[in-house]
Amino acid sequence: MSQLRGDYKSVWNSLSGNKRDAYLVVSGYTDEDKFHADAEDTVDVLRDTVGVKPEDVFLEIGCGVGRVGRVLSPFVKEWIGCDVSANMIRLAGRRLLGLTNVRLQEISGYDLQPIPDASVDVVYTTVVFMHLEEGDRYNYVLEAKRVLKPGGRFYCDNVDIASPAGWAVFEESRKTFKPSERPAQISKASSQPELETFLKRAGFDQVRVAGRLDFWAYAWGTKPAA
Ligand SMILES: C[S@@+](CC[C@H](N)C(=O)[O-])C[C@H]1O[C@@H](n2cnc3c(N)ncnc32)[C@H](O)[C@@H]1O
Repeated sequence: MSQLRGDYKSVWNSLSGNKRDAYLVVSGYTDEDKFHADAEDTVDVLRDTVGVKPEDVFLEIGCGVGRVGRVLSPFVKEWIGCDVSANMIRLAGRRLLGLTNVRLQEISGYDLQPIPDASVDVVYTTVVFMHLEEGDRYNYVLEAKRVLKPGGRFYCDNVDIASPAGWAVFEESRKTFKPSERPAQISKASSQPELETFLKRAGFDQVRVAGRLDFWAYAWGTKPAA
């Protein structure tokens, strides 16, 4: 029987049984240099949106093998990588060995339960929302708000269905798979208005949205000061 999309733990553990499979599902390639260069691009986007400060505690939802954490952690006080998959967390632990300000946390797939309220300066999630059901995306926006300190910042992204390349992703999955054969982790595009709505409904201030590379929609905002 095919797996359910919302059974994230089982789906993502089965996709990441070894390092090669995990790299491929995270990025589509296994080349460590390209992995590093792409992570530098992601960190640049974080600098341009939520900002990156040496005193910040950062938390990533869906950290995979620590692609971003490896590049970001030297610039921040602490980086906490959370992922639903125990395999991803184990592989991230190996990749980040020796970095003293990183912490890894397996999570349920639906919340950030082990993380205390108001304990983090920046929460971000990248290349993850496309794999989630819409309601589970919003639950993470709410959870991000809970764990952020007043004035803390949040960033999220997804494939933009309104962009030409985003539409191609949508059409490829629609045409390639019969509904009963569609892989549970298949990317589902989003839009700038969806992300903006989630952040505003969750009560974030200073909500901004943008597009990038004719492919990505992203949004960021600030938790109101107490
Ligand atoms: C495409 S990878 C991206 C990893 C990382 N963010 C990056 O950019 O390198 C998606 C990651 O999200 C994780 N994931 C999938 N569903 C999740 C969920 N419901 N909660 C937390 N993590 C999830 C997967 O295990 C995987 O590590």
